[in-house]
Amino acid sequence: MSVLVTGGTGTLGRDVVRLLPGSRVLTRSGDGVRGDLLTGAGLTEALTGVDTVVHCATTLGRRDVDATAKLIEAAKDNQHLVYISIVGVDRVPLPYYRAKLAAERLVEGSGLPYTILRATQFHQLIAKLFSAQRFLLFYPALRFQPVDTGTVAGRLAELAGGQARGRVPDLGGPTVWSARELAGQYLAATGRRAARVPVSLPGKTFAAYRSGHHLAPEHAEGTVEFADFLAGA
Ligand SMILES: NC(=O)c1ccc[n+]([C@@H]2O[C@H](COP(=O)([O-])OP(=O)(O)OC[C@H]3O[C@@H](n4cnc5c(N)ncnc54)[C@H](OP(=O)(O)O)[C@@H]3O)[C@@H](O)[C@H]2O)c1
Repeated sequence: MSVLVTGGTGTLGRDVVRLLPGSRVLTRSGDGVRGDLLTGAGLTEALTGVDTVVHCATTLGRRDVDATAKLIEAAKDNQHLVYISIVGVDRVPLPYYRAKLAAERLVEGSGLPYTILRATQFHQLIAKLFSAQRFLLFYPALRFQPVDTGTVAGRLAELAGGQARGRVPDLGGPTVWSARELAGQYLAATGRRAARVPVSLPGKTFAAYRSGHHLAPEHAEGTVEFADFLAGA
């Protein structure tokens, strides 16, 4: 099986590539096959001879829709498209989530055999929430279920090796934590001291997060907790 990983130079994609030795990496400037999902440059060549595409690339914004459209346009009829999305893209009204949902819809309507996996927040994202702060540690008064990219990559690699399955069950990290607990774990791991300050925001997006629409407690998987990730496990 020949696999192309878009976003194979990214946080998740690197783990997917590690688990799928011999896979091709699509990149604009890193190590791999040159291609740009926004301009379409290089896509036909990158897709030649490929059986499965694991689509991990993201523009971190609304342009994910255009990027996914270009990928679909360049793909051949029988190429299996495996797409990574986010738990709650249909329920949390964040602009990025809306783009991810629109990209899911494009994949579903592409006519290509496809598999879509939604995952919860990666450990790296939670760490990023805290790492830029200094004397006070502000945290959203919400819960998270962070997951290790190795766990998500493992599932994607397994899905890439099988038949197209449409939308598959969501994938969440091992435990649902309050952000206050995660902030405490971050302080313990980094040896820092800071007062933890909860932040609540008005609006539908925060309310949707507060309702837990980004969580998948019934699909808690993997063993690498946030504290393990911070410890470099
Ligand atoms: N972060 C989370 O917590 C989380 C949770 C669930 C799902 N996800 C999803 O997981 C996926 C991977 O996220 P990530 O955090 O690993 O992303 P990331 O580290 O930001 O990596 C982005 C990747 O996209 C590629 N890329 C960006 N623009 C491109 C373009 N125009 N053409 C080709 N490649 C392009 C980059 O490749 P080059 O720079 O080498 O070109 C890079 O490899 C995303 O779809 C994201 O929505 C993320």
